[in-house]
Amino acid sequence: MSIAATITVPRHVAVIMDGNGRWATARGLPRTAGHQAGVDATRRLVEACAERGVEVLTIFAFSSENWRRPQQEVSMLMELFLRTLQREVTRLHKNGICVRFIGDRTRFDTALQQRISWAEELTARNSGMVLLIAVNYGGRWDLTQATRSIAEALAAGRITPDSIDEQLLARSVCGGDLPEPDLFIRTGGERRLSNYLLWQLAYTELYFTDLLWPDFDAAALDEAFACFRAKQRRFGRTGEQVGDGKHA
Ligand code: IPE
Ligand code: IPE
Ligand code: MG
Repeated sequence: MSIAATITVPRHVAVIMDGNGRWATARGLPRTAGHQAGVDATRRLVEACAERGVEVLTIFAFSSENWRRPQQEVSMLMELFLRTLQREVTRLHKNGICVRFIGDRTRFDTALQQRISWAEELTARNSGMVLLIAVNYGGRWDLTQATRSIAEALAAGRITPDSIDEQLLARSVCGGDLPEPDLFIRTGGERRLSNYLLWQLAYTELYFTDLLWPDFDAAALDEAFACFRAKQRRFGRTGEQVGDGKHA
């Protein structure tokens, strides 16, 4: 990889893949067809990010609020998720991708929980891109589980109240061992976070596109990256302090 590529490509990209249902409805198809097409778009995204040297890609597959959808759609999404894992993980493994999951997996049936653990164990030692899959994930759940783990450490006497600081919180939320997201992408036209990585996105560049998820391709990703490159990330400093050096 060239030096330029290491500077201009976001290390960590976090995506909300939205618009599958509308994509299908616009074609007179059932929403399930949109989710199928969404899987293809996700495969393309993973490949394109890995090719471009992204270190971590976090994708939102199912939110803690998505259980509120019609039961039939929820079951279909669970089946699709299981099938997709079965079909795709071996290839991801061959490509050196390390697959990890964030979210409360205890609500899934045993077959799905076993698939998730299998995928993580199979790919754990891979040194390529980390693919973080958010399933039954919610940002508020994440902060709650982080708080609980800190409270347990406190109760067990492993830490004192003084040792609770931003660094400890940052390590305790999901993906706390990884760089924070540099670029957030949401397709489907909505400009909201929908309870995604609330802590992790504090200083992330936010990019929204009206494209529906199944239509999102490598060219659309490059457009998002170009927009990211054009930003001056100041992290509280002035533009003069940061100078022309983008992504200081
Ligand atoms: C995103 O597409 C996929 C999931 C939430 C699983 P949607 O299903 O939300 O599509 P729209 O927003 O209804 O078009
Ligand atoms: C966010 O999309 C969750 C996923 C993409 C998995 P939604 O379509 O569920 O978001 P809202 O409910 O419209 O905000
Ligand atoms: Mg949606």
